Amino acid sequence: MRAIVLVGGFGTRLRPLTNVTPKQMLPIVHVPMIERVVGWLGGHGIDEVVLSLGYRPDAFLDRYPDDECGGVRMRYAVEPDPLDTAGAIGFAAAQAGLDDTFVVVNGDVLTDLDLGALVAFHRSCGAEATISLTQVDDPSRYGVVPIDDSGRVEAFVEKPPPGEAPTDWINGGTYVCERSILDRIPQGRPASIEREVFPEMVAAGVLYAQRSPAYWVDAGTPATYLHAQLDIIEGRRGEPEDGVAPDASVDPDAVVDHSVIMSRASVASGAVVRDSVVLPGAVIMPNARVEGSILGPGAVVGQGAVVGGLSVLGNGIEVPAGAAVDAARLPDGD
Ligand code: GDD
Ligand code: MG
Repeated sequence: MRAIVLVGGFGTRLRPLTNVTPKQMLPIVHVPMIERVVGWLGGHGIDEVVLSLGYRPDAFLDRYPDDECGGVRMRYAVEPDPLDTAGAIGFAAAQAGLDDTFVVVNGDVLTDLDLGALVAFHRSCGAEATISLTQVDDPSRYGVVPIDDSGRVEAFVEKPPPGEAPTDWINGGTYVCERSILDRIPQGRPASIEREVFPEMVAAGVLYAQRSPAYWVDAGTPATYLHAQLDIIEGRRGEPEDGVAPDASVDPDAVVDHSVIMSRASVASGAVVRDSVVLPGAVIMPNARVEGSILGPGAVVGQGAVVGGLSVLGNGIEVPAGAAVDAARLPDGD
């Protein structure tokens, strides 16, 4: 079976990190997000992935020039202009000549979902498309999906106002689709699967969904990009992975606690790093503190400076010695 992976968004919620690197090329514990997503698909029998690209496609094409990623064959569909989620699916399906049942995934979702079980449920329902659902504390930032006892979707409500969601089971961003879904996608203009196509399918009674308790995170915000990685080093997804890269340098008199320190990053004597993610080549000078924050590639935290409160430092940003940065994005703005 083949899968379309949507990776063409601008990643605005992860700015400034995504000013340079598209969201799904950002590392998750030393490995680009896309490799973890494609590796998961490959582990569930997907033998070809169509990457649906828009924003900064070269980052993907340069990294996987032999058209293979995580052991899975890759094809690329590059949109000339953003087509939104449904338009992107239609464009990628046409480019790749998809003519059979296929899978679609949002490329920023990390999950241990049993994809085979979703496909089996889809077939048993005779659905035109089947969505995997996951349960969350705050459904308002997702697509909210009430279902009946048979799994038929009763409504699809994208990002309802806080407190108004009819259920806390939400669209997990993995779909099994029949080819006929493509006939519902408007041609030649952007179109949203969540706001246009799924509601139309609900009205026609052909959209189903299955609830899953499997591990799931959308790593598209600073908080979830951080937590997706801490979950991996804590062992919430099987064997814990090592947070400190082999070629990172951590002084014996530094404290690194519950954090990811990526390739070529360095933590100097007396510095403390807690609950944080430090991207490749970032530098933490002596006696600095970094807590619950994300340092972009090559960022520098000066001697004795303090960075905290889910701050996000962009590529190469320098925090002066002794400065305090709290709950900030640097540089701020677009
Ligand atoms: N190719 C292409 N073109 N990809 C796009 C475009 C586009 O115009 N717009 C967005 N994408 C990609 C993004 O890169 C991402 O991988 C995926 O589509 C979903 O976009 P997000 O921007 O991450 O959406 P979201 O997180 O707010 O909401 C979506 O995901 C939730 C689950 O994580 C929706 O599908 C929700 O219903 C869902 O609950
Ligand atoms: Mg997302």
